[in-house]
Amino acid sequence: MKELKISPFEKEITEGLMAPQKKLSSKYFYDEEGDRLFQEIMKLKEYYLPEAELEILKEKAAAIAEDLSCKSLDILELGAGDGSKSVFFLENLIRLGKEVKYVPLDISENILRINKQNMAERLPEMEIEPHTGDYFQTMKVMGDQLNTKLVMFMGSNIGNYKEAAAIEFLRLIYENLHFGDYFMMGVDLRKNPKTILAAYNDSKGVTKAFNLNLLKRINRELGADFDLDSFDHYPFYDPVSGTTFSYLVSLKNQTVHFESGTQIPFKKNELIHTEVSKKYSLKEIEGLGRQAGFSFVSHHLDARDYFSVSLFQKSSNSSNGH
Ligand code: AVJ
Repeated sequence: MKELKISPFEKEITEGLMAPQKKLSSKYFYDEEGDRLFQEIMKLKEYYLPEAELEILKEKAAAIAEDLSCKSLDILELGAGDGSKSVFFLENLIRLGKEVKYVPLDISENILRINKQNMAERLPEMEIEPHTGDYFQTMKVMGDQLNTKLVMFMGSNIGNYKEAAAIEFLRLIYENLHFGDYFMMGVDLRKNPKTILAAYNDSKGVTKAFNLNLLKRINRELGADFDLDSFDHYPFYDPVSGTTFSYLVSLKNQTVHFESGTQIPFKKNELIHTEVSKKYSLKEIEGLGRQAGFSFVSHHLDARDYFSVSLFQKSSNSSNGH
């Protein structure tokens, strides 16, 4: 009998699809096509997050800079993406007299190339040191920095974790920092539920394509035969928990085959859970940071109160409680 080697990727995918409630991890959205589709999403009017965050990074940079008490900063950005918003923030900090080294960290080598180009265009003098890897691999780079650090975690990426996992993740960041280092997080705020739902259910169907691309990726990388026309995109926002849940819906009874021999049956209308996008209130954001050990410094909001860029510090008395 021929023994086929199952990669960790395939193991996680097939285990998720064999669970009673089928699921696929949103961390696998971002192949080259997924990066491109997410960049498309960020241009959608309905997907208000980037516009709101960019407004803050442009309009509130001076206020944020004032809250950062040191002149020299090593700025590490977790899940940096294309850097198209951060570049404005970095530009402002430099203009305000900060000496900055920028260390973008991302799982996608492709997107880090684009990031470096964006930075080189506007900030050719700035020192830049990109690192490819997942959050846990790249977080280790934090220990190598000599200056006071500012770790940025933007784009409401924290929203992809359920609350308990979010705290655990922030705690890991906290543990990798020195006293005096800062942590800045961009977080999508609770707001009118219709506004939030529309952001994940855009009229052009880009979010649908983004969600379905996960199946396309599995087809390509694992030799599976998902029929993309037989699945639909279904996002659902629960304003009580402040969570958007994204699903793929099987439109018929069908069986999907993998090159490895694995077969996955789907019932008509069966769901695959693909993503959570959690929204927070300002108080909840402060709670997240504090439970991870940080001292809260400040919130910076856009004019519509849609989004917050929230600053924390690892200060020597921060975990003593209050
Ligand atoms: C990149 C995780 C912030 O959840 O809003 C966009 C990803 N998913 N549209 C989000 C996403 C569907 C996005 N994050």
